[in-house]
Amino acid sequence: MFTCAHRLLLLLVCGVGGVRVEQNDEQHHLEHSGLAPSESSLAEESRALTGLQNPKQIRTLLKQGYQWTYTKWLGSGSFGDINLMHLRCPKREHTVLDLPVARKSQFYGTIEERDMILEEAKIMKDEFNSRAFPQYFSTYEEPKMDKEGQPTGKGTIYVDMEVAGGTFKNLIKGPTADQYQLPNKASLFADAMYGVQEINRLGYIHRDLKPENVFLSADLNHALVGDFGLTEETVPTAIKETPDPIGTLTHMAPEVHKDHEYNPKQDVWAMGVIFYQMIHKRFPDGVKQAFAIGNQDMGKLYNMDITKDAGYEFVPNWVEEQQVPDSTDKAKLARDMQDLLKGMLQVDPKGRMDAAEAFEQAVEISKDLGNPGDIKEKLLTREVTDCHYCNFKF
Ligand SMILES: Nc1ncnc2c1ncn2[C@@H]1O[C@H](COP(=O)(O)OP(=O)(O)O)[C@@H](O)[C@H]1O
Ligand SMILES: [Mg+2]
Repeated sequence: MFTCAHRLLLLLVCGVGGVRVEQNDEQHHLEHSGLAPSESSLAEESRALTGLQNPKQIRTLLKQGYQWTYTKWLGSGSFGDINLMHLRCPKREHTVLDLPVARKSQFYGTIEERDMILEEAKIMKDEFNSRAFPQYFSTYEEPKMDKEGQPTGKGTIYVDMEVAGGTFKNLIKGPTADQYQLPNKASLFADAMYGVQEINRLGYIHRDLKPENVFLSADLNHALVGDFGLTEETVPTAIKETPDPIGTLTHMAPEVHKDHEYNPKQDVWAMGVIFYQMIHKRFPDGVKQAFAIGNQDMGKLYNMDITKDAGYEFVPNWVEEQQVPDSTDKAKLARDMQDLLKGMLQVDPKGRMDAAEAFEQAVEISKDLGNPGDIKEKLLTREVTDCHYCNFKF
């Protein structure tokens, strides 16, 4: 609870009331490297970003002398970087609040790019705002000015959100991958499928599901589908022409590649590839062959038969080798896993499971492994320890 006494303390220690707050070199560097939007740019842009900002809370803190501090780089994307930032009182010995956020900084060179970035923020704020997703905090913009101080039409948009603890990449590759046992992976996969079925249920297609875009919560106990940069409303005809297929080739459904046909079941295909990767730490045979460097043959993908895949056939043997609770019926678990792979990785979208069916089957697998079945409840009531903006009272 933030009381009047706390507020008075803040005003006194954070330099409000005539005391000028010194800007340190790091802060100066950040403001000019595009990592920390200045207060004036927050004010200038508040109209253009109506509804996306959370200006009252942030401005109040900035007025009280709080400053943004860059802590570390979290990741990179197509338009920019994601950095860990902290809103801190500069007089560190008196710091009474420390607000960490993941700041997605995206540079735009055209109005279309600006619209795309703002659309992504809007979707996060207004549509995918349950705890099944990374929590949205606020958006700012820093327009790029020319030498005369006139806007150039270019600039950077910053979207602040909850800090994630990693992505599904950590489960598949690298030193952390072996820390995740099958029961844990199955529970995280069910979480992610909950998010995907929500996206589809709300009338959207994510269109870029891949391990890098499924985040882990800060406590690593939950999976949160993120990065809505290519997310689009499902078009009524389910077919939309684009010059190039949109998405990431390795996780692209065959119909998207072949016919540029976008439909909610493409998200199921992508999650099927991810599920396979979580098991075998490699791509399904068909995907591997289709995208083999120097020998690309998309026909391999169009004609893929998951039931003939070596990894699919090997699932029962693989399950035998896994550390699972004693209560697990390994034969049933292997069947359930094969059914899910078969249901999700059908080349023809008509014969493919939809996200709700895949979610149900993912929950079944998670339960086979001794996990509780209340995935939705677990996700939606998860604690968001870093969501200070959300519960900060003035
Ligand atoms: N909220 C976050 N917390 C921690 N890391 C993040 C967060 N958002 C993104 N990242 C990291 O940055 C990478 C790129 O972010 P993403 O939103 O996917 O950008 P892009 O749309 O450019 O792909 C992610 O794969 C992840 O590693
Ligand atoms: Mg991404």
